Amino acid sequence: MTKLAGVRWGSATAAYQIEGAVTDGGRVATIWDEFTARPGTTTRGDTGAQACGAYDDPEAMLDAIEWLGLETYRFSIAWSRIITGPDGRSNPEGIAYYRRILQVLRDRGVTPTATLYHWDLPQWLQERGGWTDLATTDAFVHFANVAARELGDLVNDWITVNEPFCAAFHGHLSGLHAPGIQDEPTALRAALVQLHTHGEAVRALRAVNPDFRIGLALNLSDLAPATEHPEDLEALRRADLVENRLFLHTVLQGRLPEDTAAYFGVDVLSGAVEGIDVSRIAEPLDFIGINYYEHNVIRAAEAGTDVIVRGIEKLPVPEPRSANGVAVRPDGFTRVLLRVAALAPELPIWVTENGIGLWDYLGPDGMCNDVERVAFIDGYLDALADAIASGARIESYYFWALMDNFEWAHGYQLRYGLFYTDYPTGRIMPKASADRYRVRIAEERPDLVEIDRRDGAAA
Ligand code: FCB
Repeated sequence: MTKLAGVRWGSATAAYQIEGAVTDGGRVATIWDEFTARPGTTTRGDTGAQACGAYDDPEAMLDAIEWLGLETYRFSIAWSRIITGPDGRSNPEGIAYYRRILQVLRDRGVTPTATLYHWDLPQWLQERGGWTDLATTDAFVHFANVAARELGDLVNDWITVNEPFCAAFHGHLSGLHAPGIQDEPTALRAALVQLHTHGEAVRALRAVNPDFRIGLALNLSDLAPATEHPEDLEALRRADLVENRLFLHTVLQGRLPEDTAAYFGVDVLSGAVEGIDVSRIAEPLDFIGINYYEHNVIRAAEAGTDVIVRGIEKLPVPEPRSANGVAVRPDGFTRVLLRVAALAPELPIWVTENGIGLWDYLGPDGMCNDVERVAFIDGYLDALADAIASGARIESYYFWALMDNFEWAHGYQLRYGLFYTDYPTGRIMPKASADRYRVRIAEERPDLVEIDRRDGAAA
């Protein structure tokens, strides 16, 4: 038995980041189509119009999944491909696309996990108020019902919403993500409406099939104070409220953290919870998905520089860092997992995302030798083993991402894939990290990856 025995090995993607074909197959526009059309919202004006071309040609991606030996693949279903507008009509072409992928996965013995909301709100819903309006909850529950009924024979594991923190606070406060709003009360409302929607969707999915396994994916950060001074400790508490507890505690406990009203203001909070029964957010789950990227050192700063949390500054982190300045801190990963385990000891944890953004490139030999990502995989899998050894119930690990894709405001420059995407041709090829992940999977599960296929195997 290795230290990682029992973990299911996976990798993840999301619809808008890989599919392209944004006006094909009956798909309707989303907030990301609208946002990326605005000048200055993404690096070099990149949009998801092309992405990895996975709508037109998913074969290479499916082959990559098989080559790696993955047991499970996390993908997202584009709401905009399934429901065509306010009348709720479903789109057979969109459904057929996901059925085709799910059938191939089944034929190849790969268990899918479907995310229902990975940030691609249909634009017609945004125009009616988006995540500030409880009518969006009703529309989402309808979408979840259609997806579950049409695809539920091929997918049993569901994630309601992905990173509601980012969709709320980057979408509605920093404005770095779609829909690009910059208003704190709106951001808090968007956070609570998404959490409310999650609770409603869990109940709706269970009503379709009580055997479904259902969770959500929260991004949690590991935060440390710059000093032990009371102001820094208080700054840390504010950052932890907004980035972690508002989501984690509310989902697990069905009540808002005590300091929520003091931070946002009583009036803002009462506006944000209007029409929402917070206790119903904590619907029992089959797993909790954790996306782990960030470790930050927090200092109090009167004229704070953070784009989301008031009165704080995040200090620059030392090497090693990702290309976009994110700390490589596997110990932070262990801490976050143990924090969740302490809060909900019985609830299985799925690491639904973990990865590193780099400025990857092909060398003269035509290969991408991403040594930092190779080291990252080894370091973070050791950190995962440490969390397990200390009692965390880790059931699955999904590396973000299967292949380079449209990285939101960073466009195509920042790459996260195990496979290198050559955007002009749409070809994907394994990086050194893909080899490494495959070898690690083979070590854990020799039944999944044949050792003798490792060398020189074509993807
Ligand atoms: C997460 C997102 C995912 C991807 C990674 C790098 O915040 O869920 O879509 O962009 O970051």
